[in-house]
Amino acid sequence: MNYLTKAIVNGIVAGTMLAGAAVAQTAAPAESGFVNTLMPQPAQMTVGSGRLAIAPGFAFTTDKSSDDRLDGAITWAMQRLKIQVGFVIQQAQPGATAPLLISVDGPGETIQGIDEDESYSLEITSQSAHLHAATDVGAMRGLETLLQLVQSDGQGFWLPAVSIQDSPRFRWRGLMIDCSRHFEPIGVIERTLDGMAAVKLNVFHWHLSDDQGFRIESKIFPKLTGEGSDGQFYTQEEAKEVVAYARGLGIRVVPEFDMPGHSTSWAVGYPELASAPGPFTVGHNFGVFNATMDPTKKSTYEFLDKFIGEMATIFPDAYMHVGGDENNGVEWKQNSQIQAFMQAHNLSDTAALQAYFSQQVLKILAKHGKKMIGWDEVMTPGLPKDVVVQSWRGFDSLAAGAKQGYSGILSAGYYLDQMDSAAEHYRVDPVPAGSDLTPQQAALILGGEACMWSEYVDPQVIDSRIWPRTAAIAERLWSPQSVNNVDDMYRRLWVESLRLEGLGLTHISQEDASLRALAGTPDIASLRVLAAVLQPVNFDTRGSWSESHGVTTLDPLDHLIDALPPDPPSRHDFDELMSTYLQDPAGHPDEQAELLEMFRSWTAAQPELMQLMSGAPLLVPALPRAQQLTELGTMGAEAIAYLSSGVAAPAGWKAQQMAVLDDAAQPIALTRFTVLNALRNLVNEVK
Ligand code: ACM
Repeated sequence: MNYLTKAIVNGIVAGTMLAGAAVAQTAAPAESGFVNTLMPQPAQMTVGSGRLAIAPGFAFTTDKSSDDRLDGAITWAMQRLKIQVGFVIQQAQPGATAPLLISVDGPGETIQGIDEDESYSLEITSQSAHLHAATDVGAMRGLETLLQLVQSDGQGFWLPAVSIQDSPRFRWRGLMIDCSRHFEPIGVIERTLDGMAAVKLNVFHWHLSDDQGFRIESKIFPKLTGEGSDGQFYTQEEAKEVVAYARGLGIRVVPEFDMPGHSTSWAVGYPELASAPGPFTVGHNFGVFNATMDPTKKSTYEFLDKFIGEMATIFPDAYMHVGGDENNGVEWKQNSQIQAFMQAHNLSDTAALQAYFSQQVLKILAKHGKKMIGWDEVMTPGLPKDVVVQSWRGFDSLAAGAKQGYSGILSAGYYLDQMDSAAEHYRVDPVPAGSDLTPQQAALILGGEACMWSEYVDPQVIDSRIWPRTAAIAERLWSPQSVNNVDDMYRRLWVESLRLEGLGLTHISQEDASLRALAGTPDIASLRVLAAVLQPVNFDTRGSWSESHGVTTLDPLDHLIDALPPDPPSRHDFDELMSTYLQDPAGHPDEQAELLEMFRSWTAAQPELMQLMSGAPLLVPALPRAQQLTELGTMGAEAIAYLSSGVAAPAGWKAQQMAVLDDAAQPIALTRFTVLNALRNLVNEVK
């Protein structure tokens, strides 16, 4: 192959690429016209100059190994390709040649584990494409890359000449969904799994029990869901379907049964499990509850033994998550029998008693062939080294665990419910550059998991809370550490976001649907102008408001905040536009025109916006935002007028604008503006 352009993605420089950047981190097309929008970026890629056309008659074939799972994965990929290009992708007869050859050495592990080989290579020339993988799962990862490589222009669809050798940086790349606080139907779970596979995530951590609901059927203990679920739970058949569906995508399913705390829903039907007499009712509010299993009774462990044995027949993964987080110890301190037990066993505090509990649960898990994973709090002296610790309280505890020899995964910094930006999540690294871990200790850090806690998440809003931000986390966990350019991440994230929507996820379309519902009319042009520069307040602000207003899981999530995506394009793109403009206002007439048009649209929206919002009861609380949008638009236009004319602003103008910005920074109707930092920078440049 005649490679005129050579650029290796993995931070290695060739030709004219910038140090530490490489082809991924620039939008500039390669010689073939290839624009790299891969997400996650592969470990190594060399870009050539040719194109392989995808035209009617384009066919694929396989050689080497074949099995039902692989066939299903290829069929799924070719169906998606068909929809993208607009014609059927042919399957060539065995032995015939075809432009696309898929070679897989063997199926891989019967039960996918952390050592599954997910590597693949992809060699594309102007004549052919060859995907090679050692396992079905590697082939699935390669097929996703292949689909993301498809380019189009006036000449039709084509694949760029590339040579890719790819494998993940971390072995454990997960997404946790809390299905207790709000239940998510199977359809939501399955479309989320599709999205996960598209960005090469490989663990679905299914948080199935918490204070607010017990979500999986137990035939041995039917009152768990019978009394503890408000009627919303997965049957065992449905759970098995999810496990099979995930396996078809190369995704492990790790179920979580949170214990000994966060266990109110267990105690509703089985109060004898708890450390206080009860009775208990399903929680509908939020926070840390007191209900905690009684770790001193043999009957507790007999129950867990039967329950875990039953769940082991549904969930084949080597790991079972047993929670362990946020046990406040209140019931243990108030129970004289438990206090006596602690004295008799020399357990000095509730942490020591929880460690005792963990040791008993560990034995039960081992009996049923399962390894333990738990949140930070399970890491107590004496814990065996094969327990995996999931760090939610900070990177320090993950590193501390690794130094003691524990494997761990990082979730601190990947909490999707916090409403942080994709950039903030992207900068969080399970093994940060400059970490003081030895290579052996760093190797114990298996990866990370994004966490979708569901206080404010229901089937309608969940997609926009997970996507597209999770794609940025997925890249952090798959791609080399040197792939870290935030602007380039966002450039590709918006493309990936569209691809994810094409899979059936609703994170983009739901915003308009919700705005129409809020407005009570399809004519939402003015509302979109406002909504485009708003995002939800962060979790803590919403949490305080919800607590003071008595919000529960029974309240609908149908307010403006629920329609707004976290980290909408306006935030990063407006920042980028403004910072380019401010580098040299006179030298950026296009950016200036774009900004002025935006400011004009903000001001122009006001009359219609005021009318629409004042007639829509659920939008009335956000009405002050309409007035503020006009003020911000006026401010922006004035600032540009001063900057471009070189005329100084009148005395007091700047202070007045800063007051407007401070005012706009206050939460209203649980929303915040995305554009204030950039506007502040603009105003600051005015003389
Ligand atoms: C947690 O956020 N309590 C794991």
